[in-house]
Amino acid sequence: MQLSTTSLIILLTGASCVLQATCSICPYNTTLCRCHHDFISCTGLQSMPRLYTGPEVMNVTVIDIQTGNITSIPNGSLPPGLEALAISRNPVTEIADDVFINSATTLTELDLSGLKLRQLPYALLRLTNLSALDIENTPIGILQEDVLQNITMTLTYLRLENVSLLAWPRAISYLRFLTGLNLNGNSLKIFHRTLSFRLIHYET
Ligand SMILES: *[C@@H]1O[C@H](CO)[C@@H](O)[C@H](O)[C@H]1NC(C)=O
Ligand SMILES: *[C@@H]1O[C@H](CO)[C@@H](O)[C@H](O)[C@H]1NC(C)=O
Ligand SMILES: *[C@@H]1O[C@H](CO)[C@@H](O)[C@H](O)[C@H]1NC(C)=O
Ligand SMILES: *[C@@H]1O[C@H](CO)[C@@H](O)[C@H](O)[C@H]1NC(C)=O
Ligand SMILES: *[C@@H]1O[C@H](CO)[C@@H](O)[C@H](O)[C@H]1NC(C)=O
Ligand SMILES: *[C@@H]1O[C@H](CO)[C@@H](O)[C@H](O)[C@H]1NC(C)=O
Ligand SMILES: *[C@@H]1O[C@H](CO)[C@@H](O)[C@H](O)[C@H]1NC(C)=O
Repeated sequence: MQLSTTSLIILLTGASCVLQATCSICPYNTTLCRCHHDFISCTGLQSMPRLYTGPEVMNVTVIDIQTGNITSIPNGSLPPGLEALAISRNPVTEIADDVFINSATTLTELDLSGLKLRQLPYALLRLTNLSALDIENTPIGILQEDVLQNITMTLTYLRLENVSLLAWPRAISYLRFLTGLNLNGNSLKIFHRTLSFRLIHYET
């Protein structure tokens, strides 16, 4: 009986999983993504790759997805237990409401830059430990107060640079623990007085 190369590789991977405490199967099995320990970086993706799960799959805490053609981040496309996620320079218009459900308590840093979102993703409502939110070069326009209010208890850093803000986002005054705020690149004229004692980085 002859083993094909593929089944030999699978056998060897399986064996190393039994022998070693950690395994080498990357949650995203595509040449466009590189897995280094608990970190994945991807470039040039046309859509979110199929997600592998299971005991042999590496536990990943940080994902950085750069320039590509992804238009939506569907439910079930991210591995569980993420601590930091960056998705940048992809024409993303949709982020599923439940996409962060398995990282709800662990995700502390989220960077969404150069996407095509027309509003803050409602998926943010799931995040109970988010400390830094960075959204840049994305045509959001109006910040929904219900979304912003829900993350106010944990957020310390908020960057909304060049997101076409039309009006001062009133809900920002609920962000009690904010130590950094950057609203550069928006044509805002009115500055909110309640924030004046805080660390603000704002230029017109
Ligand atoms: C990933 O983490 C889970 C629980 O946190 C653990 O049971 C599992 O063994 C870990 N997997 C690897 C490959 O380290
Ligand atoms: C990963 O992709 C390679 C190449 O497409 C394939 O040979 C291999 O079986 C895949 N691994 C898993 C675990 O699906
Ligand atoms: C996106 O897709 C277009 C064609 O559909 C292609 O020309 C372009 O190179 C792709 N960009 C990336 C970063 O993959
Ligand atoms: C999204 O996926 C999670 C598990 O991956 C599941 O519990 C949840 O019901 C899904 N939500 C929707 C709207 O499909
Ligand atoms: C929340 O994030 C902090 C790091 O900022 C981490 O130490 C803590 O374990 C997280 N909480 C949960 C419930 O995962
Ligand atoms: C707002 O966040 C809390 C936890 O901080 C959560 O229990 C609640 O369901 C969230 N609201 C919505 C509308 O998801
Ligand atoms: C501002 O964001 C838009 C996309 O919403 C982008 O086309 C433009 O280049 C950005 N401007 C700067 C100065 O980066």
